[in-house]
Amino acid sequence: MQNFIFHNPTKLIFGKGQLAQLKTEIPQYGKKVLLVYGGGSIKRTGLYDQVIDALAEIGAEVFELSGVEPNPRVSTARKGIEICKKEGIQFILAVGGGSTIDCSKLIAAGAKYDGDAWDLVTKKAFATEALPFGTVLTLAATGSEMNSGSVITNWETNEKYGWGSTVTFPKFSILDPVHTFSVPRNQTIYGMVDMMAHVLEHYFHLEENTDFQDRMCESLLITVMETAPKLLNDLENYTHRATILYAGTMALNGILNMGYQGDWATHNLEHAVSAVYDIPHGGGLAILFPHWMEHTLNVKPERFAQLAVRVFGVNSEGKTAEETGLEGIRKLREFWSSIGAPARLADYEIDDSKLEVMADRAMANGEFGRFKTLNRDDVVAIYRSSL
Ligand code: NZQ
Ligand code: ZN
Repeated sequence: MQNFIFHNPTKLIFGKGQLAQLKTEIPQYGKKVLLVYGGGSIKRTGLYDQVIDALAEIGAEVFELSGVEPNPRVSTARKGIEICKKEGIQFILAVGGGSTIDCSKLIAAGAKYDGDAWDLVTKKAFATEALPFGTVLTLAATGSEMNSGSVITNWETNEKYGWGSTVTFPKFSILDPVHTFSVPRNQTIYGMVDMMAHVLEHYFHLEENTDFQDRMCESLLITVMETAPKLLNDLENYTHRATILYAGTMALNGILNMGYQGDWATHNLEHAVSAVYDIPHGGGLAILFPHWMEHTLNVKPERFAQLAVRVFGVNSEGKTAEETGLEGIRKLREFWSSIGAPARLADYEIDDSKLEVMADRAMANGEFGRFKTLNRDDVVAIYRSSL
């Protein structure tokens, strides 16, 4: 285990009816509020009206940025930044999924930055200041509600990158499982794949002495796998929605990976695919992750075998670590298929015609991955096997 400092400043407000906390949380930051949301799901569910009522009760002056797209675009963040600068916005409230939250993070930092927001995403400049912002999460998936990361797409150049700063943690996040009842079946599946993929990214590292962290990761994976079929049978079940919502936040808020750094190559591979084809992040991960695992199995087969035995119940008797590991990968694939996640790029009608473009995007910042460093040949091989 490496030395570490853990500091996560986001106040997590969890449970039924917690939206009322908006009225105590927001006033400390100011009255001029930019409300940021996506394509309209919050209007259909009535959450928009509830938020507007709460803001009215505290006498907030509300400005709005709607239409944040899944795979949020820098062009949309720029619109929000313009509103913040022009109107002197004091607080940003993101109501939605990871995309709305990620876009709000760029708006918050961009409002305090003189240049173009894309500089912050490409790390040409680092955010040292940001407007305060909070979130009302409506979809369990990314963990963005309790981390400082943000993933932004530039549709003009087909680029999609993650960025973040210590100033881009939400001040608070409100997580009411009821707000996730309306998440459609496919997005529910993608969300569960995404949180499992975050745990797997952590899990594949080369550090020693991470027994406790391993057990926490394994426990999260098992919990999601046990809950997923039950939730998919009953999308408005509070108990199951609560379990998944909590799991999604815990998967990427820094708690599981104290003292070591995970791999994160598969996320880079996926971001390159969705930058070119605009597919859902979780869908892309379900396709790519097992192929990345097969490609890197020989780096440390015991790690794959441990996962296979402890999480997928593989019997390792009389088998090599490679054989056990491979069986675990097969079971992961089977599980994701069983809940309806895609298994091949062809499921999104992606063929090899833009494979080199995707590889260019993935390699934009050079070789990547901490468990195994991937070069261009590795990247092409993983994409090719995923077709
Ligand atoms: O836009 P609306 O109308 O709200 O609809 C959304 C959207 O179409 C809908 N939705 C959300 N909550 C709903 C709902 N529909 C009905 N009822 C609800 N309660 O779901 C669709 C997808 O929403 P989105 O926010 O795009 O999904 P998600 O939370 O999975 O976010 C995906 C984005 O986050 C990035 C991904 O790359 C992708 O761009 N990631 C961000 C991370 C982070 N910041 O830490 C880490 C992740 O690995 C990921 O890369
Ligand atoms: Zn992810």
